[in-house]
Amino acid sequence: MKRAIYPGSFDPVTLGHLDIIKRAAGLFDEVIIGILVNPGKNPWFTMEERMEMLRCTTKEIPNIEIASFEGLLVDFCRMRKIDGIIRGVRGGTDFDYELPMAQINQQLYAKTETVFLAANPAYSFISSSAVKELAVFGGDYTSMLPPEIAARMKYKENQMSKNR
Ligand code: PNS
Repeated sequence: MKRAIYPGSFDPVTLGHLDIIKRAAGLFDEVIIGILVNPGKNPWFTMEERMEMLRCTTKEIPNIEIASFEGLLVDFCRMRKIDGIIRGVRGGTDFDYELPMAQINQQLYAKTETVFLAANPAYSFISSSAVKELAVFGGDYTSMLPPEIAARMKYKENQMSKNR
């Protein structure tokens, strides 16, 4: 059985992420969506909210598990016997960031291979950061998110603006 992890922040999950998740689920027997607990970042959504959003948007895909992890990705890969790390690549900037990370992971733990999936061009301009920036400045991000996530984003946007 081949098991992969699709690691990330998913703050929030976008249509681009979902496209990669569906395609990875077709390539591997099991795909763990690994949400990084990153003390250096200040996410909009709590870990529980991000897990719930991923559960809700992937409920039709049978071979998906949602998990959180802390520390080095390769340590989680070793612990869970993970064969592949999935990363989506939207363009050259992504690749320049991803390649050294894949090479470092390879140096640290060669048993797990990084597998790059080319982003669907329909989604290659989408990022969680762009969604949040649009939200701050009143832009429309609804075409970048599954409808149920766009609704949660709107709620979060209102909560954040009340606290400002
Ligand atoms: O969605 P993101 O924020 O682009 O995901 C980045 C992620 C989680 C894949 C990356 O930051 C990561 O793997 N962090 C865990 C720490 C680690 O193992 N770093 C790799 C060695 S440089």
